[in-house]
Amino acid sequence: TRKIIIDTDPGQDDAVAILLALASPELEVLGITCVAGNVPLELTVTNARKICELAGRREVKIFAGCDAPLARPLITAEHVHGKTGLDGIDLPAPMMPVQQMHAVDFIVQTLRDAADASITLVPVGPLTNIATALRRAPELACKIQEIVLMGGAYFEVGNITPTAEFNIYVDPEAAQIVLASGVPITMMPLDVTHKALTSADWVRSLRDLGTLLGEAVASWTDFFERFDKEKYGSQGAPLHDPCTIGYLIDPSLFAGRHINVEVEVLSPLTLGMTVADWWRVTSRAPNVMFMNEVRRDAFFALIRDRIARL
Ligand code: BDR
Ligand code: CA
Repeated sequence: TRKIIIDTDPGQDDAVAILLALASPELEVLGITCVAGNVPLELTVTNARKICELAGRREVKIFAGCDAPLARPLITAEHVHGKTGLDGIDLPAPMMPVQQMHAVDFIVQTLRDAADASITLVPVGPLTNIATALRRAPELACKIQEIVLMGGAYFEVGNITPTAEFNIYVDPEAAQIVLASGVPITMMPLDVTHKALTSADWVRSLRDLGTLLGEAVASWTDFFERFDKEKYGSQGAPLHDPCTIGYLIDPSLFAGRHINVEVEVLSPLTLGMTVADWWRVTSRAPNVMFMNEVRRDAFFALIRDRIARL
């Protein structure tokens, strides 16, 4: 099993990623670290607790992390995720505890206690917690096996500005720290996540499970879908964040290129753009496995099967 820490700002698609991970014996979830992003920190922590309780997993360790980006005011995305960040189905107020330790301390301590290249970080929100940990303890980068993150966009351009994807845009300085860390990185940009679109049949198959979990995922998907329908005219909701977990369970679901990716941190026009050297026209060293293909049917079958098991 692979030991992972999910760093997240739930979010409906974050929620599906968390459920997929909790349902998968290939992965051991050491902790869920929350960050401000789709909604403020307090809500992302509450949502993470709701999701774990929904999965019947009250023992999962949940940590609160950074409540604002490294160098900028927080930008949130209620226009996509709703007021709670997890609109779509009403879940009871969570009872399970939040750990006392700060999320960044948990990440640092976990790495410190680990063998080399043994921990996988899975950031699916702004990269503030991860960058703070790497900045505090750069000598622990060797403990990280891989960072598998959702963020960025290149040919698919942006979803929060014309050139930037939300997670990177919210904290571009943090993203650049992560990309420059030397840790092996696999990136799920909009180029691949906009191909991971739910279908009506798939949503129905979740409802047909007849479980609260199936109903929750179906309702979140329905809620999430309206934004992309209006914006891009796409059929279905993009399950951005679950691409990271899907990859960890079965890497053959995804394909891309190992290339150089840098983040724009200066230009007001293109702030947070992930400049991807897809055609390898610079001599900058490759630092990212940049994905742009997904075997969609197999990916969605995997999610459904795992949700059915929970
Ligand atoms: C990313 O931004 C958030 O709104 C989603 O949860 C996902 O992580 C997509 O741009
Ligand atoms: Ca997210």
